[in-house]
Amino acid sequence: MGATYFFRDLHTLNMVHSVIIPEINNNRKSQGCPQKKINIWSAGCANGSEPYTLAVILREALDESVFSDVCIRATDIDPNNRFEAIINRGSYTAGELSKIPADMFAGNFMPDIENAGNYVINDNIRKQVKYHHHDLLTLKPVINEPFDIILCKNVLLHFSEKQRSDVIEMFYNSLTDGGFFITEQTQKIPEHLPVKFEQMVSNARIYRKKRF
Ligand SMILES: C[S@@+](CC[C@H](N)C(=O)[O-])C[C@H]1O[C@@H](n2cnc3c(N)ncnc32)[C@H](O)[C@@H]1O
Repeated sequence: MGATYFFRDLHTLNMVHSVIIPEINNNRKSQGCPQKKINIWSAGCANGSEPYTLAVILREALDESVFSDVCIRATDIDPNNRFEAIINRGSYTAGELSKIPADMFAGNFMPDIENAGNYVINDNIRKQVKYHHHDLLTLKPVINEPFDIILCKNVLLHFSEKQRSDVIEMFYNSLTDGGFFITEQTQKIPEHLPVKFEQMVSNARIYRKKRF
């Protein structure tokens, strides 16, 4: 299984509600767009720790009506077909959830009556996360709707330079104008890429697709 855990790189994920969602809302207001769905793609999500961490953070930070418009597509190549069942049930061991602050844990998880020792994520969070089996190297987006945010963390490092460039270009083409691409601290956008992103903050790999 790809190594992952709940509340990994919290510093970056917290910026989704503190920096990115206000930007998305301001852009929509300035363009006269009514509030609509916020489409997020967690690409290479492993057992769901990353998309569910983001969902818990957003559920805590956003008004209920804004959170109900968040849809997170969680995808993985998952060669052993293990992640779909885990993510759809939203059930994890106490050890896997141990980094979640006590108040957030208490408000968002309950004991799993079918798996002693496990906890399930509350339905109001689970229904905002949809899993798809998906191979990034097909270079096709998981759905043909533009994304506001694409997270791809600790995945691209496993690809060749060419594959990395092709996947980032596919992400670029899958984002709305002004949409955001998030990757891990040690990953960079290759300079030769014919795609245009600007780095939003100096202390995290959060990039905004430039408008033309
Ligand atoms: C280290 S985990 C990262 C999990 C999570 N993003 C995180 O940062 O905690 C890497 C994941 O990338 C997935 N992966 C590898 N190649 C992939 C591909 N071609 N398409 C989709 N997912 C892939 C692996 O199956 C694995 O679950």
